[in-house]
Amino acid sequence: MPSAAVDIVRTVHDLREKVGSWRAGGLTVGLIPTMGALHAGHLSLVRAALDRYDRAVATLFVNPRQFDRLEDLAKYPRTEDDDAAKLAEAKAHLLYAPNVGEIYPEGYSTNISVSGVSAGLCGGDRPGHFDGVATVCTKLFLQSGADGAFFGEKDFQQLRVVQRFVRDLNIPIVIHPCPTVREEDGLALSSRNKNLTAEMRTRAPAIYNSLRDAAKRLLDGNAVEAVMAEGTDKIRSAGFEKVDYFELRDADNLQPLDSLYPNSRLFAAAWLGPVRLIDNIAVTNS
Ligand code: PAJ
Repeated sequence: MPSAAVDIVRTVHDLREKVGSWRAGGLTVGLIPTMGALHAGHLSLVRAALDRYDRAVATLFVNPRQFDRLEDLAKYPRTEDDDAAKLAEAKAHLLYAPNVGEIYPEGYSTNISVSGVSAGLCGGDRPGHFDGVATVCTKLFLQSGADGAFFGEKDFQQLRVVQRFVRDLNIPIVIHPCPTVREEDGLALSSRNKNLTAEMRTRAPAIYNSLRDAAKRLLDGNAVEAVMAEGTDKIRSAGFEKVDYFELRDADNLQPLDSLYPNSRLFAAAWLGPVRLIDNIAVTNS
């Protein structure tokens, strides 16, 4: 039997009314910000929200301010009906799917910019990307008034950016990190995986495998610089055209590391044809 449809609201007013009535009735609310094209990674965040809160609200907004290339924004998959059906099946209570004018009305002029954790990695080669993320997430948090919000570790730098501005601006919301959901061969789920040809798809797990090999080599005591160079080479020889970065960083402040510390994390981004894939893992013995 198909699940009952998920309720959809499109305006700040309707979102506030709905969330406000739940909270007035003593219910807690978890928010799951997304850009749609939902897959099992997104749905794991919905499940985590339902475990912790009485109501789960997903958002669907393809945020123009976080794209540095217009063609990427135009190409981004838009599958709202399908997304709404998946959310209904996952038992989410509400979908907030505003249009661009609702989020950035005529005359909109405010930007949230986070320094430090935004530097380098995906912030280095995508200027303005994290300002766009921080700005839209600030708006979604304030518009919804949710108690908590769920973010995937797949986008680890994004998670740290969000935690930073929530703390800096005293926004009353709890940020919940959630583990990366992977295919059986290790490839992290991503809406971009759909753009891989069958041949590219067979090569794609190399990014995760290289991160795992590098973690092991670091734990065996090999030098960081050499291990980063090997990781880059392994990804290239698997058929990726370009490696944007392969780096070891402190997992809290995201500062680059030239030797292994207890809280270290490996990060990689690389291109397979027109598709940019990212991944990251903790460097631990477990
Ligand atoms: P989007 O790419 O749609 O991702 C929405 C959320 O799903 C993010 O928190 C992301 O980390 C998480 N996610 C994606 N793939 C995952 C996976 N394989 N396992 C676990 N979680 C995964 O990230 C964004 O949208 C936007 O930048 C957004 C935060 C919505 C702001 O516009």
